[in-house]
Formats: sequence, structure tokens, C-alpha cells
Amino acid sequence: MSEIYHVLRSSQFDRKFLDELYDITNTLRKISQSKKGTDYLRSLMSDRRAMLYFTQPSTRTFLSFLNACQILGIQCSEIRDSSTSSEIKGETQEDALRTFSSYVDMIIMRSPVAGLADRVAELLDDTPRRVPVINGGSGKDEHPTQALLDVYTLRRSFGKTGGDLDGKKIAMVGDIKRGRTVRSLSRLLRHFKDVHIYFVSPESLKIEDDLKKYLIENGMNFTETTNFEEVIPEVDAIYMTRIQDEHDESGESKAIDYSKYYFTCDHLKILKKDALIMHPLPRRKEIDFHVDADPRAKYWRQERNGMWTRVALIAKIFGADKDITEPYGA
Ligand code: CP
Repeated sequence: MSEIYHVLRSSQFDRKFLDELYDITNTLRKISQSKKGTDYLRSLMSDRRAMLYFTQPSTRTFLSFLNACQILGIQCSEIRDSSTSSEIKGETQEDALRTFSSYVDMIIMRSPVAGLADRVAELLDDTPRRVPVINGGSGKDEHPTQALLDVYTLRRSFGKTGGDLDGKKIAMVGDIKRGRTVRSLSRLLRHFKDVHIYFVSPESLKIEDDLKKYLIENGMNFTETTNFEEVIPEVDAIYMTRIQDEHDESGESKAIDYSKYYFTCDHLKILKKDALIMHPLPRRKEIDFHVDADPRAKYWRQERNGMWTRVALIAKIFGADKDITEPYGA
């Protein structure tokens, strides 16, 4: 599979797709270094329009998709609060999303509702105005484009020290029960040989059984533990996450001592010298601000990589990737 239309969950990507996507990403980054290249990229999709429908808060995903569209010359419309749309009059989200397809060529959406993007894609597939749907985060469920940028960042960072993801040990730390970035990234890591994932969390925030089943079915190696300090010296990358208390039913997160899952400056001393510290962001206190200056901290790179991988993804969906790789490819 190297063609793609809807982007709904990370399990739909295969290794060939990842390799191609990251080649496009690297090429367009080079092209964008000159004004001529930037103007060229902006001409590629200036006949296209996109809708950004983000009814759950977002800074990075929204802005990186918006800027990715702008880089390719795509015009964007947006709704960021359903109370400003006709949903307030009782229109269903499905009808609202079908309406967008009357005006635009692509829908990029974030929703607190798990599975909504899948439902909308299915609905649009049966209409004369079928357009691609990109899931920019759905409930506790999936954040597939975050996984794409995370794997890109891991490969790019390990590549600098002469390696790739094969054989790496990666710790996913914090609220891994409700963290959709962890769920999408863990699934995507199946495309790399002998990766070992350490899921590090309080007892009440352990990974869900459906993810565990997926990892076992795909022959992936993983360990579950509550002991963060024991894992730090062992791993090649640490993926920190914040507590996802927006998913609380009755304030249950307040009873959890999350401070055991904070990365501090002292931890830098026991971390391998070429290990990576990652975070999908936003953060609260999971990573001490002083850690930002350490060269192993890669979370600000993740943000920037997110924009470029999303440019590549959109170009690939519309077949514009050939106009990136052919005139400028290696
Ligand atoms: N990582 C991420 O999804 O960030 P935002 O919620 O700011 O989009």
C-alpha cells in the first residue's frame, strides 16, 4: 500500500508508505529552503480547498495542518467550535460534515468522539461528493498523523547517530490508558524489527486490552511497569505524556500521584547519552523546563516535523508527491 485516501488510524500505514512519505518529507524540506522552491510548492495545489473542523482544542495539529495547506497553496476554511455552526440548531455532525464536502476537496477533523472520522469517511464514500477525511485526533482512540511525525522524528534522530528504529527500546510514560498518541504510535512501531516498548504508568492508567491484543497479534515485544526510574537508563527513547484528565468521568485523576512520572533534570544523568526525550505536547509538569536545553530533548523538533510530514501526507493523498520528488528528487 503506497496509495492513500482517507487517513483514519495508524494501522492502515505500511512500511512502504512510511518510507515513501518520509522521502517526500525530506525532499520538500530541501525545496522549501529557497524562495523559488517555496513558490513552486505553493503552486502545486492552489486549485484545492480544505476544511479544518476542530471541535476539540488543539494548537499544534490545527496550526501545522493549516500551515501545511498554505505551503501547498491550498485555501482553508475552519470551524473550531460547533456552537458557531448550524449544529446548534440541531444538525447532526454527520450532516455538518457532509455539508463541508459540498465546498471543499478535503476534510481535516479533530473530535472528542472516537470513531467519528471513520463514520464520516464511510458516509462520504456513498455520496457523489466523496472527499478525503483526515483524522487529526479522535477521542481516546487515535491520532494517526501524530504517529507519523513521531516515527519520522525517531528515525531522523536515530539516523544522525547511524541507526534506525530496529532493535530500539522505547518507553511510553504516563497516561497510556487514555493517550491516543501512545495508541497510534505503538501500532505504527510494528513496522520496525525487534522494537521493545516499555509502558510505564500508574496502575490505574495501564494500556487498554485492545492495544495489548494488537501488539501480541503483531508479534511485538512489550513490558508493563509502574517503575519509571528503573526504565530510564535502559531505553533509547522516552515518550512522555500528560495526564488526560479531560476524559475523567468524575475527577478520578485527582487521586493519582502523577509526579512519579515526571522527567526531571536529575534523570538526564541516568539517561543514555544518545537517547531521545519526546512528548507529543502540550505538557504540564511531565518534563522539567530546564530539560529543554539538553540536546536529547526532541519535542520541539516533533512540532516542526509535524508540519512537514503533514505537507507530504496531503501531497501524497492528491498525487502531488510526484511533482515534489520527480523534479527535485535525488
Ligand atoms: N500533539 C497534539 O495533538 O497537540 P495539540 O493538541 O496542540 O494539537
